[in-house]
Amino acid sequence: MNLDVVILAAGQGTRMRSQKAKVLHELASRPLIHHVLAASEALAPRSTTVVVGHQADAVRESVGTLGNCVLQAEQLGTGHAVQTAIADLPDDGIVLVLYGDVPLIKPQTLESCVAGAMQGGVGLVTAHFEDPAALGRILRDADDAIVGIVEFKDANDAERAINEINSGILAAPAGQLRGWLHRVNNDNAQGEYYLTDIISLAVGDGVPVYGVVSDKEEVSGVNDRKQLAELERTYQKLEAERLMLEGVTLADPDRLDVRGRVVAGEDCFVDINVVLSGDVVLGNGVRIGAGAVITDSSLGDGVEVHPHTVVEGAELAAGCTVGPFARIRPGSRLGEGVKVGNFVETKKATLGAGTKASHLAYLGDATIGAETNIGAGTVTCNYDGVDKHETHIGDDVFVGTNSTLVAPIEIADGAFVAAGSTVTTRVEDGDLAVGRAKQRNISGWTRPDKRKDK
Ligand code: UD1
Ligand code: CA
Repeated sequence: MNLDVVILAAGQGTRMRSQKAKVLHELASRPLIHHVLAASEALAPRSTTVVVGHQADAVRESVGTLGNCVLQAEQLGTGHAVQTAIADLPDDGIVLVLYGDVPLIKPQTLESCVAGAMQGGVGLVTAHFEDPAALGRILRDADDAIVGIVEFKDANDAERAINEINSGILAAPAGQLRGWLHRVNNDNAQGEYYLTDIISLAVGDGVPVYGVVSDKEEVSGVNDRKQLAELERTYQKLEAERLMLEGVTLADPDRLDVRGRVVAGEDCFVDINVVLSGDVVLGNGVRIGAGAVITDSSLGDGVEVHPHTVVEGAELAAGCTVGPFARIRPGSRLGEGVKVGNFVETKKATLGAGTKASHLAYLGDATIGAETNIGAGTVTCNYDGVDKHETHIGDDVFVGTNSTLVAPIEIADGAFVAAGSTVTTRVEDGDLAVGRAKQRNISGWTRPDKRKDK
């Protein structure tokens, strides 16, 4: 199919009251325009043109290679915007018009819309709104056929009472669309070239208009930050429903936020106030505690994330337990059954199967073998103020409480580090390292007196 998508994104978005272009405001951590680009991409169009105007450079940069940007220097109306976009497009295709500020449109709805144009008509996405406010109204004849669209500002009372609205999204054969746009004038209440006027022109030419009635949510646009927040909630509701249908139990579907792509196995459980960002892959039976934030990570089968844990850029193998209050930073690879407890931070750290760091530790730039125990308060001193250095710890090592491991350092298999040690040189297989000042007890020592005036 020769599908050419046009996305309108030149408008100012005055009601956002923002220095930033409206289409760059984010929904689920992704600019609005990228939601639209993704919906369009699902139809595999042969071209995608984005009409830019206000903040053109910033929008162009955000669109990047996902579309060709065309500048509409003056915003003379939606009809003029489409005319600008299709100026260089061939006549043989079908043009699908989307809006950069209508982010929740679904590919299936767009396919139905395009199908109308493929039958030689115009496809038009509409919806029923209880309170259609200032949206364009759909005019139908006695046979229920669409005959036109009237803009709110141009409508009479009877027309304003109509609650079927124009989403703005339409598809039409390129050549005919060009012809109709050529005939559109700006003789209306707003002095703009309305895209909506092509509907009555098409009907006048005997071309049928196929309405695709969609859900309100799908075609709702963002004009202010209140609407942005409403659509964010709608998006989150849909994501929560999707996850539940894939076999994830949610403690409360209203208290999960998904800001990326989440793939989950069966029988996962997600407690309240969890944020999943970027690409997150959950195996089967993963449990995520309240307030956890998981970003760009994969969690194997049966992983348990206790409350208020932050995991980013990490791979957790099956059966790991992390948190509560742990911070697993980028480059962390936890082997099977690893246990990382409260107030433990890992960064670029590999922990072998069965290794435990149960409390209060910093493990950075470290490779740790299997079945090793890292005591509370252990710190890998990876930074000398200039460079980062690595710590290598073998299998079955016992690192006592409050050890300071000054990198670069190696602690071989089976070694034992006495509590409170500062370790600066290699510890051989099975050796005990004791690196602390010898204790001295002073008998008969007198405490200083407490001052009376304090
Ligand atoms: C438009 C429709 C209206 C529909 C509503 C749905 C027209 C005349 N009216 O009204 O029937 O119910 O959308 O939201 O089409 N834009 C440009 N260049 C321009 C003008 C607009 O790129 O010259 C872009 C805007 O950035 C925006 C979109 O087109 O993304 C819609 O423009 P807007 O001015 O918001 O149209 P509405 O008055 O809401
Ligand atoms: Ca609008």
